[in-house]
Amino acid sequence: MAAPKALVAGNWKMNGLTASVDQIEKLNALVTEGSVGCDILICPPATLISALSGKGIDIGAQDCHMNVSGAHTGDISAAMLKDLGCHYVIVGHSERRADHGETNDTVKAKAKAVQEQGLTAIICVGETDEEREKGETLDVVTSQVVGSIPENASADNTVIAYEPVWAIGTGKVPTTNDVAEVHAVIRSLLLDRFGDAGEMVRIQYGGSVKASNASELMSVANVNGALVGGASLKAEDFYGIIKTYQ
Ligand code: 13P
Repeated sequence: MAAPKALVAGNWKMNGLTASVDQIEKLNALVTEGSVGCDILICPPATLISALSGKGIDIGAQDCHMNVSGAHTGDISAAMLKDLGCHYVIVGHSERRADHGETNDTVKAKAKAVQEQGLTAIICVGETDEEREKGETLDVVTSQVVGSIPENASADNTVIAYEPVWAIGTGKVPTTNDVAEVHAVIRSLLLDRFGDAGEMVRIQYGGSVKASNASELMSVANVNGALVGGASLKAEDFYGIIKTYQ
């Protein structure tokens, strides 16, 4: 069965100043020296997109507004991100769902805005600790996947990132069996949604991915790359994860 090319993406969250250009240059040097078998993406804060673009590493964004333009002080549209050269936008990260009250409907509207610009939406899903304890993981993830993918989405402009909330920034990771179970459910939802093309939608795992656990996590069925927070901030650490796909 054909498998999509993995996408290893770094989400810098609210970290990085102009000096971080060094990290992109270092990362590009490491990637150029090695032979890498995955796509690589860095999603820095919006303030750094311009400074980091054109340095050999694909640059994306962490969020956008659902409208193209208008009276939305402080917000940034997908059209603006496209204008800066972004090809990907993360939407519905659990930190935005929690800190900004984003619902599946909000995430779906943002993903639609991203896709209407010809960009790819990385749609994040994942259960909280409490939901996992209550045995609700598969129900929560199913409702997030079904509720957050826009009607007009295609297999080409959609990536799903499964990030259990309790694994983010904690050093805790699910067992490979747990990852396999959730990713298999997401794959079957994508097949329902997109038909055979659903096989080629990338499903990333995110949550405390490091060089030391990447090869185990990335070898799980239906794991097509990683969405990495803390370990993406330093080029050497991030390259340690990317190398899994050499
Ligand atoms: P960590 O890799 O720091 O756990 O963060 C994961 C994440 O939230 C990426 O979007």
